[in-house]
Amino acid sequence: MKSWTNLKRAALTLAIAFSLTGTLSLRPSGTFHAAAASRDPVRARRGLVASTSQISSQVGVDVMKRGGNAVDAAIAVAFALAVTYPAAGNLGGGGFMMIRMRNGNTVAIDYREMAPSAAHRNVYLDKDGNLLKGEGSSTVGYRASGVPGTVAGMELALNRYGSGKFTWSQLLEPARRLAAEGFPMGHILASSLRGNDYLSKYPDTRRIFLRNGNFYSDGEVFRQPELAATFARLQRFGPKEFYQGQTARLIVNDMKRHDGLITMEDMRAYVAKERDPLRGSYRGYEIVSMPPPSSGGAVLLEMLNILEGFDVAKHDWASSDRHHLTVEAMRRAFADRAEYMGDADFVKVPVAGLIDKGYADHLRKTIRPDRASTSEEVSAGRPTGYESEETTHFTVVDAQGNAVANTYTLNDSFGSGVVAKDTGIVLNNEMDDFAAKPGTPNLYGLIQGERNAVAPRKRPLSAMTPTFVLRKDGSLWFTVGTPGGPTIINTVLQVITNVIDYKMNIQQAIDAPRIHHQWLPDEVVWEPYGLAGDTQQALTSRRHKLATKPRYMGDAQGIMIEEKTGIRLGATDPRRSDGLAVGY
Ligand code: DON
Repeated sequence: MKSWTNLKRAALTLAIAFSLTGTLSLRPSGTFHAAAASRDPVRARRGLVASTSQISSQVGVDVMKRGGNAVDAAIAVAFALAVTYPAAGNLGGGGFMMIRMRNGNTVAIDYREMAPSAAHRNVYLDKDGNLLKGEGSSTVGYRASGVPGTVAGMELALNRYGSGKFTWSQLLEPARRLAAEGFPMGHILASSLRGNDYLSKYPDTRRIFLRNGNFYSDGEVFRQPELAATFARLQRFGPKEFYQGQTARLIVNDMKRHDGLITMEDMRAYVAKERDPLRGSYRGYEIVSMPPPSSGGAVLLEMLNILEGFDVAKHDWASSDRHHLTVEAMRRAFADRAEYMGDADFVKVPVAGLIDKGYADHLRKTIRPDRASTSEEVSAGRPTGYESEETTHFTVVDAQGNAVANTYTLNDSFGSGVVAKDTGIVLNNEMDDFAAKPGTPNLYGLIQGERNAVAPRKRPLSAMTPTFVLRKDGSLWFTVGTPGGPTIINTVLQVITNVIDYKMNIQQAIDAPRIHHQWLPDEVVWEPYGLAGDTQQALTSRRHKLATKPRYMGDAQGIMIEEKTGIRLGATDPRRSDGLAVGY
């Protein structure tokens, strides 16, 4: 049904584009940049939620219709996604919530996981100093989890920025009900669970998600009674229950039984933090994004600063020239990410220097128009960190103009693979975002820097980049974010330049094919159908190295405010088709 609607909308969009613009070939190349979108943005007068789950978007809209603000709605959406999108939505993970109140006050809530106190620099090495693999490593099983931050983050957001019209318990209720009564499992979730070997290793995970091999099919009702009971405890006893009550004890007891790292003391010590967002600008538009422990805001601003000095829009969007400049900006900013970034509460991160326009001028001069740099010449050759598989972003704007951009994650799809016994909670494997062995390739063949080494209570470096872009009068223009590990920052970059340089609407900007370069490995990742054969050739002849196989990246969600009408325009990523913006 939905794909048919999408198809019709896409056809309509194309038809409108043609009828408004006349004959395409009359436009001189390089000035006409309109792209067909998979659909028109969803339009709403008052409040709107764009998330990767239509059911969860609706939960947020219901809260706003009953008088809640964007923050109330975001909290309800975050809990609902823990039920409807369990690969990434979570209670057992962490993330970042950027909040912009209608008066312009903007804050970043950091509820990133913290390393347990038993974690230390070499915790993922064997006695010979080699990286551990499998159980015991930073990627799977009980020892891979950091102390979850989501519950504390939502509590902080509600206490500081909620409307006061909704209680904690009311905002958890839609999630509890979805878990208790179930919801029809969508195609994406059902198919991702089939043949998912690593989930079958843990008994509770196998029983809940794989039904011990009797896999769920599309549309079958999926209930999660233990998770519903956990929500009910959190409703009854409040957020502290998660960190000090029965839920904490259940998680910690399971940790003890399986040689995990997290203790009751670690749970009690978890703190979510309010931080000042990073601010920069691109062609006069203010960009407000996530500070450390995310690398997202700094790397994004560094890339935008580099690109700002080029007349990007004079190059046709699909040209090798545009791709060349974009890749070279990515290469340089990601080299800095690897060298300089980590949890700024623990190590010195020269953020101001990295996002300085003068520094970007210097970097821009090292970019040759005629050929690619090699990553060796851009730095001493220390590749950046690896992040993988599953995260989710959602975005909310309410009738008053308050806005939330939230990206949160378990890291990999279904995190560590572990569901803590009797809780229904999937635990993260965020510890793999640390450099498990600085200076040496990790399990994925990549290297991370010393500033991001493991230490007790430290937060692993992230790439999550929830971002606001403001109009020149200081009002909110659009907001965007996405999953995708290191590709996150580059997806946000490209959505921003698609809108600002190529005048795309928010849906077109999200739909448009993306590229990714992260310094090392020295290759340009591209999407299927994203680079024409002759563009590939032009890039290769400039000595860019293209990934041998294309692959899709990201699942961006965005909202733009229409300038003249104030209408909210919601866009979800066609790359994962369960998402839908819902508004009223
Ligand atoms: O915080 C980070 O940067 C990663 N843990 C995010 C992982 C991710 O986006 C996976 N999603 N596809």
